[in-house]
Amino acid sequence: MRKFVFIAVALLWASGAAAQEAADAVAPELGGAGAVATSPAVADALRHKQAGQPVVADDWMVVAAHPLAVEAGAKVLRSGGTAADAMIAVQLVLGLVEPQSSGLGGGAFLVWWDAQSSSLTTLDGRETAPLAATPRMFQSADGEPMDFFKAVPGGLSVGTPGTPALLHEAHQRWGKSAWPTLFDDAIRLAEDGFTVTERLHKSVAREALTFAPFPETVAYFLPDGAPVAVGQTLRNPAYAETLRDYSAHGPGVFYTGEIGKQIVRAVQNAPYNPGLLSDLDLAIYQVRERAAVCAPYRGHDICGMGPPSSGALTVGQTLGLLSGFDLAAMGLDSAVARRLIGDASRLAFADRGRYMADSDYVPVPVEGLLAPGYLADRAELLKGDDALPEVTAGMPEFDHALNWADGDAIELPSTSHIVIVDSYGNALSMTTTIESAFGSRLMVAGFLLNNELTDFSFRSHRDGVPVANRVEPGKRPRSSMAPTIVLKDEAPVLLIGSPGGSRIIPYVANAIIAHLDWGLDVQKATALAHMVNRFGTYDLEAGTSAEALVDPLRAMGYEVKLRDLTSGLHAISVGEVLRGGADPRREGVALGE
Ligand code: DON
Repeated sequence: MRKFVFIAVALLWASGAAAQEAADAVAPELGGAGAVATSPAVADALRHKQAGQPVVADDWMVVAAHPLAVEAGAKVLRSGGTAADAMIAVQLVLGLVEPQSSGLGGGAFLVWWDAQSSSLTTLDGRETAPLAATPRMFQSADGEPMDFFKAVPGGLSVGTPGTPALLHEAHQRWGKSAWPTLFDDAIRLAEDGFTVTERLHKSVAREALTFAPFPETVAYFLPDGAPVAVGQTLRNPAYAETLRDYSAHGPGVFYTGEIGKQIVRAVQNAPYNPGLLSDLDLAIYQVRERAAVCAPYRGHDICGMGPPSSGALTVGQTLGLLSGFDLAAMGLDSAVARRLIGDASRLAFADRGRYMADSDYVPVPVEGLLAPGYLADRAELLKGDDALPEVTAGMPEFDHALNWADGDAIELPSTSHIVIVDSYGNALSMTTTIESAFGSRLMVAGFLLNNELTDFSFRSHRDGVPVANRVEPGKRPRSSMAPTIVLKDEAPVLLIGSPGGSRIIPYVANAIIAHLDWGLDVQKATALAHMVNRFGTYDLEAGTSAEALVDPLRAMGYEVKLRDLTSGLHAISVGEVLRGGADPRREGVALGE
């Protein structure tokens, strides 16, 4: 049976391109075009987005990936709730209406600005590897890394979910609203149903074949054998029941209660890739508070999530390498500016590949990687006229003798970003994920389980040298999520983040450059045509003004590819007023008053 399922899944992945074509034929445009005006306020917000203008407000603002989630957050903020309260309402609705991206079966990183104490903190709700995990668990018997796509579906890729514990921790620390009230909208929508959007339909159509081994997932997303249709009302009574349980009893239901048992059963008995997660793994899960990692840029502090995320370090390195170059004078159409940004990003990604991982398990040279002297030396490499032919990791100051081999890990589209400012002046930036679209494809109690363990390097060693991001029991896989709060004079001026796998890092760094160097407002900065370079190939966003740079970048020696680059940047700038921007490539909106 297992062999049959394995072959079926392999064939299904192989036919992914055909499925993609079929999905594209159903709905021509991914993203903002499909956004639904669920209220007059949302209709107004969508008009701003389509016109390329930010939404402006005085008191509070919320930006997230789906109008229904944004409205749930707005309701909380309007009635005096904090940003933490609103985030919980937003996340619970996102888990229903954007289930392919994030939810109770996943993990998240939260960066929090506390107005009362004028301080930043970060909460790490990243998934953990089971205690039974081993460095070679994603390798064949001869030590070769498994095919990434074969490792994603089923139980093997599932880490202990962190999101249920993170939401509760944020509420305990910073909430004002009564916990159960934050569930009202999500429970109502799960019971009464919500309208399936073009983006959800299209995501289901694209991935449908990969659901085949998992009956609960098929039953929910492919009722009557076909993908849920655009405009159809979709109910999720199992999710409503889960929410009622969580609301009444807190996160323990996921870690030591009945839902936790269901998670373990589903993982261990998965019909494809049965996994290792146990009751004990869930019982010992903890959210970790960590110091924010900040890097200076143009008189600002760019602050975000440190290890196990590579987000703040790699964004900070990219910007630090560029700080000696006058990008503002060059302008956003300049090929020279794009060479500098692309190669700065490559240098930062080389260090990311070698040094960044869960610092609870491996020493990460956080200070050394951001040291101005180290970055100034590395920036000397950028002073030529052409693309760097080759890029390798540098040698940051390191108070530990061990060195690491370069790792490899791939990430694929899903994930969601939330930014909120409340009427008390608190602010948050949170990126939340189940990793791939529809995560592991395993569905339990109305939500999908993550495949976050595939963010580890499948290769555990190179020439006998260990890879920093190798799998280890209880470890958190390295992330690229970069929830960011930019401070000026020790107060927030910009909240930003995006989905996009490892492209999150250049999406966020480039949008910060667009805002700080080129003066674009948050809506224009989120919409700006993408040009990203992580490992050498320069990816330019097809069908946009970026295409004008193809020839100049090729002439500098880059391999250039045109492709879709479906970021989901959400941003709020904080000044005399609040301005919100939502990425036109997806369905999100900004609402504020
Ligand atoms: O933590 C990470 O970096 C990834 N699991 C995020 C995945 C993602 O953003 C997918 N993208 N659209």
